[in-house]
Formats: sequence, C-alpha cells, structure tokens
Amino acid sequence: MAEYDYDVLVIGAGPGGYVAAIRAAQLGLKTACAESRETLGGTCLNVGCIPSKAMLHATEYFDAAANGAMAKMGIKVTPELDLETMHAQRRDAVKQLTGGVAFLFKKNKVDWLNGFAKFQDAHTVKVGDKTVTAKNVVIATGSTVTPLANVEIDNAKGIVVDSTGALELPAVPKKMVVIGGGVIGLELGSVWRRLGAEVIVVEFLDQLLPGMDGEIRKEAAKIFKKQGMELRLGMKVTGVSVKGKKATLTMEPSKGGDSETLTADCVLVSIGRRPNTDGLGLDAIGLKTNQRGQIETDHDFSTRVDGVWAIGDVIPGPMLAHKAEDEGIAVAENIAGMTGIVNHDLIPGVVYTLPEIAGVGLTEEAAREKGEVKVGKFPMLANSRAKTNHEPDGFVKIIADAETDRVLGVWCIATVAGTMISQATQAMEFGATSEDIAYTCHAHPTHSEAIKEAAMAVTGKPIHI
Ligand code: FAD
Ligand code: NAI
Repeated sequence: MAEYDYDVLVIGAGPGGYVAAIRAAQLGLKTACAESRETLGGTCLNVGCIPSKAMLHATEYFDAAANGAMAKMGIKVTPELDLETMHAQRRDAVKQLTGGVAFLFKKNKVDWLNGFAKFQDAHTVKVGDKTVTAKNVVIATGSTVTPLANVEIDNAKGIVVDSTGALELPAVPKKMVVIGGGVIGLELGSVWRRLGAEVIVVEFLDQLLPGMDGEIRKEAAKIFKKQGMELRLGMKVTGVSVKGKKATLTMEPSKGGDSETLTADCVLVSIGRRPNTDGLGLDAIGLKTNQRGQIETDHDFSTRVDGVWAIGDVIPGPMLAHKAEDEGIAVAENIAGMTGIVNHDLIPGVVYTLPEIAGVGLTEEAAREKGEVKVGKFPMLANSRAKTNHEPDGFVKIIADAETDRVLGVWCIATVAGTMISQATQAMEFGATSEDIAYTCHAHPTHSEAIKEAAMAVTGKPIHI
C-alpha cells in the first residue's frame, strides 16, 4: 500500500494551483487539488483577470460608439446600454473557462477535493471533513483584497465595493470614487467611466501605477485625464461613511494638511491585495509568514518545511496570473525531480485599459541606479498602423545597457501594448541587444514596428521620425 494518498496535493485552484496540478499529473504523479470555491480557476477566472477583461472589452466597443471614434471611420451609431446582457456575457465567459479547468482536471486525472484545506502536519491536510495525506503539498492559496481602515466593504449593497463588487454593479453609478490608482482602480474605473460614470481616482502617491517606469506613469496620467477621469494624486483616504444610497469619503494630503470630503454613489476600494494564509494551519507545520504575510520560498519554490512548497500570490513577487502559472509548472517539475525555473526578472506587467500599458524588465530609474544606460523612444503617433487606426496615444521606450547594448527594460503605451510586450520579453529572455531587435524584420503595418523603431532610436537612428 502507498505511504501517502497522493504524491502531490495542491491547495488552491487558481492559475498557480490548477496549472501545478495538471503539470504534476502530466508528469505521472498522483495528484489532487483542494479548492474551497464551487468553481475552479481561483481569483483570475472567477473574479479577476477574466471577468474584468470581459467588461473592459465590451465597454471598449460602447465607448468607441459613444465617443465618436466609430463616427470618425464613417460608422454612425448611438449606443444603448443593455447592462444585463453585458453582465451575462461576462458570467458566460467565466462559466466556460472555469468549466474548462474542470474538464482539464478530469482529462489529466487530477482529483478535485472541494473544501477548505487545513494542515494537520506537513503531509496531512484536512479538506472539509475529509483528511488526505500527500508526499508533497503545494500552497497556492492566492490573495484577497487588502482592507482599508475605517472602510467597510459591502458588495451586496453596491455602494462601497471591492473589485468583485465593482464587476457586478447592477447600474452605472453617477459618480464613482476609486481609492487607489493602481491596476484594478484604473481598469475598473475605466469600465464605469466608459459607461457614463463620473470617475475620480484618489491615489496616495504623487503618481499612478507604482512600480512602472516614471515616464510611462506620467503619460498614463495624461491619457486618463484626457479621457475624463479626475485624478486626485498625493491624497490619502482616511475613512468612508455610508448614509442611505450615498458614500462620503474623507481624505487628506498624504504629506499632511487639511482634510476634505467627497460624496459618491459608489466607492471602489482597490489599494492592493494580501496573501491568503488565514485558517490554513501554518502553525501546525511550523511555517511562519514574512512581514507582508507572504510565504518565503527558495528558488525551487520549496519552503523551509520539507515536502511543503508554495507558489503564486501567496509568495513574494508581482501578483500576476502568468507569474503564478509559470511557478505552477516549475514547482511540479521540481517535485518530479526535474529543474523548474522561473526568471523573475522578466515578468511582464500589463494594464488592460485603452490604450494598454505594458512593461518588462527594469524601469529607466532602476536601470540608471545600476549603471550607464541608453534610451530609445518612438511615439505611436509616428507608427503607420496606429495612426491609420486613429490610435495616436502612447510610445515605446527601450532601455539598454550603455556598454553592452543588452536590453534592460521595455515599456509601451499602445492599444495593443499587452500583445507587443511578449516579443520584448522573449527577446530579453534570449539576452537580446537593442541592435538585435532593430535588425529583426517586423511585419508592416503593425503596432510592433514601434518596438523596432524604438530599438533603432537607442542608437539615434529611427527611420520614421
Ligand atoms: P488565486 O487565483 O487567488 O487562487 C487561489 C485559490 O485558492 C482561490 O480560488 C481560493 O478560493 C483558494 N483557497 C485559498 N485558501 C484555501 C484553502 N485553505 N483551502 C482551499 N482553497 C483555498 N493578473 C494578471 O496577470 N492579469 C490580469 O489581467 C489580472 N486581472 C485581475 C483583475 C482583478 C479584478 C483581480 C482581483 C486580480 C487580477 N489579476 C490579474 C491578478 C490574478 O488574479 C492573480 O495574480 C492570480 O489569480 C493569482 O493566482 P494564484 O493561483 O496564486 O491564486
Ligand atoms: P495596486 O498595488 O496596483 O495599487 C494600489 C494603489 O493604492 C497604490 O497605487 C497605492 O499607492 C494606493 N493606495 C494605498 N493606500 C491608499 C489610500 N489609503 N488612499 C489612496 N490610495 C492608496 O493594487 P490593486 O490595484 O488593488 O491590484 C492588486 C493586485 O492585483 C496588483 O498587485 C496587480 O498585480 C493585480 N492585478 C493585475 C491586473 C493586471 O495584470 N492587468 C489587473 C488587476 C489586478
């Protein structure tokens, strides 16, 4: 009889966990995945990446019809919002994709244990009322919304909501205040602005999108303002109270000063996310979290406890689905005795607004701290495809080492920046120089030609500007 019920038990079926489970099963390991939600796919498929993109995609069409972008191309339409249908197509996308993961589990013979998992010891886990043992346990429990002191979130009421509530609003709020000018605030703020809400973004820092390249952050702010968002930068929210159907938000300058209030029909709290470890029973295995509540791992994703591994949002690094997925593959391969590696220096980040905002590698500021750099930039206005499509906003920026010409960072604002960034990531993964990119033939007319031109601009020789 086998010593354990399973070779691998994965806790959490988000993009980290479900991918780890499938890869482990593909590698011949007997695998189960514990998930407390009624559907698989975690935050990403249920309440994150997928439903937010469904709303962004649909509202992009609405906005194009409403703001004259279609009329410019000779298509005269007056859009009428059917919010219920818009929500239905979002729910349908979620249903299909979460069902797809269930199908993949069956196909790969991964057992889904539906229930909340709690460690009894390093190889024994209680899932709901069942106890299972496993030689290896992978913690992939993800993250949830960071709460804000003095602010109570009530998604059912729809007045003070988190991202999950903001995806489900039954009507377009007249006025919406977004707390936090990060990725969620800008994506979901854009959704409701496009549908007619007056959107005010209150951000603690003096600029949007922390972590991104400085010039990109400034340009993004310009674009969002042009689109009609009001930005209150350098302001800290200190509380929100609700009376009837209105919320009143109190804020003060982050550097100190007089407080002021704002009244709104809806307040979205999007000030970050924190790792999920509550109730997991980490004490039972003697595993401590760091100051940020994350589980620290080695490069192979093993924790300090033998046989216990961790991946995804619950460990340090950017909280991104593709990072979690790559870690899922790597951890399974490491458990199987192979060498699973994730290059954490090259995790692309994308904000799916219009235009999209994307980057990979170092910001110019971080690169300059490390040594001399050369920077090449190319505006989308000079890219023939973007210009033809009436998409003039944004630019591509390439940062290269001054001595070796090796590309250190690529940043783009462009309608399809999220797609464009993959070529930059791949080039950097292969150690490309800006010259390598400049001498690579790019199809014409494509937005990606702006990457080639920015690479040519590193040596001061772009053609089309
Ligand atoms: P999760 O997806 O959070 O999954 C963890 C799962 O574990 C959950 O289903 C949870 O129910 C389960 N769980 C937790 N504890 C237990 C337990 N003890 N027992 C059993 N089950 C448990 N990232 C992108 O890359 N691109 C995007 O466009 C994007 N958009 C986003 C939009 C929104 C609104 C949000 C909120 C997030 C978005 N993200 C996006 C981030 C992305 O969703 C996360 O980085 C990703 O889901 C992390 O994957 P994970 O597997 O680590 O955890
Ligand atoms: P975030 O970290 O991107 O942004 C939070 C913002 O809130 C920061 O700019 C911060 O300065 C600000 N803030 C904090 N406290 C504040 C206060 N009291 N008042 C005003 N501002 C305050 O976090 P966000 O947007 O909640 O997203 C969480 C995570 O989800 C991100 O880490 C991101 O990786 C992931 N995500 C990714 C997406 C993508 O890849 N397209 C989309 C949505 C989420």
